Amino acid sequence: MSDESKENEFRDRMTTLGEMAAVLAHEIKNPMNSIIINMEVLKGAVQDMASKTQAANSEKVLRYFEIINDEIRRLDKVIKGFLDLAAPPQPTKVLFSLNQLLQKTAEFIKEEFSKKGISFDYRLQEDLPRLLGSSDQIRQALLNLLINSSQAMPDGGSIILETGYNEKTLYLKVQDSGGGIPESIKAKVFSPYFTTKEKGSGLGLAIVRRIVREHGGYVELQSEVGKGSTFQIVFLRSGAEK
Ligand SMILES: Nc1ncnc2c1ncn2[C@@H]1O[C@H](COP(=O)(O)OP(=O)(O)OP(=O)(O)O)[C@@H](O)[C@H]1O
Ligand SMILES: [Mg+2]
Repeated sequence: MSDESKENEFRDRMTTLGEMAAVLAHEIKNPMNSIIINMEVLKGAVQDMASKTQAANSEKVLRYFEIINDEIRRLDKVIKGFLDLAAPPQPTKVLFSLNQLLQKTAEFIKEEFSKKGISFDYRLQEDLPRLLGSSDQIRQALLNLLINSSQAMPDGGSIILETGYNEKTLYLKVQDSGGGIPESIKAKVFSPYFTTKEKGSGLGLAIVRRIVREHGGYVELQSEVGKGSTFQIVFLRSGAEK
């Protein structure tokens, strides 16, 4: 099969998936909200009982509530992620500065990251051409990468944000000094639902790849266990960017 027909087949499959996802979302949202509300009410009732009688038993019940709560939230996250992947909003594209987006996004999470001992360094190319795309979606992709990096550095570390360009492409890089990704799983990390984390949904990088593809670009991964990981997003220059 040619690359083009492969791409077309992929797009068709994603469209069907998108329609199914919209139905799924509708069907799941109501019962989910109902469960969450009823859980809160029940929890309140048990807390009330606990203060009056049978404190020990009630504590056990409350622990079960916490477990159910955690599971529901996890489910909620998985479904939201699936929807993001299968039925993405069609964003409007504008010309924007990747350098500014990187700086603003890092600024936004800098404080939270510094509490974990994570610092930012910048290697932003001056006079970087602007990118034609959805800055919201690229921000989402960048955040997914930054969150992964922070999770790979539980004892702190550094993140380098880099941009650059040549005649045909422009890129952004997120480099961390975390645990790295073993060779054996490198090929899987972009697959939906692949995760090595207890509470991960495994959709972060699948969403990054989907967003980047929608911008006509691709993602490259370099990683060495014990040293860190670098995710590079490469975009093709549109010619209309200056
Ligand atoms: N910067 C990184 N350093 C080390 N491992 C990484 C990094 N980024 C991704 N990974 C590996 O790739 C897997 C998939 O990442 P992805 O973001 O798709 O899902 P997740 O982080 O596990 O869950 P979610 O993003 O849905 O919370 C991770 O579980 C982890 O094993
Ligand atoms: Mg992730």
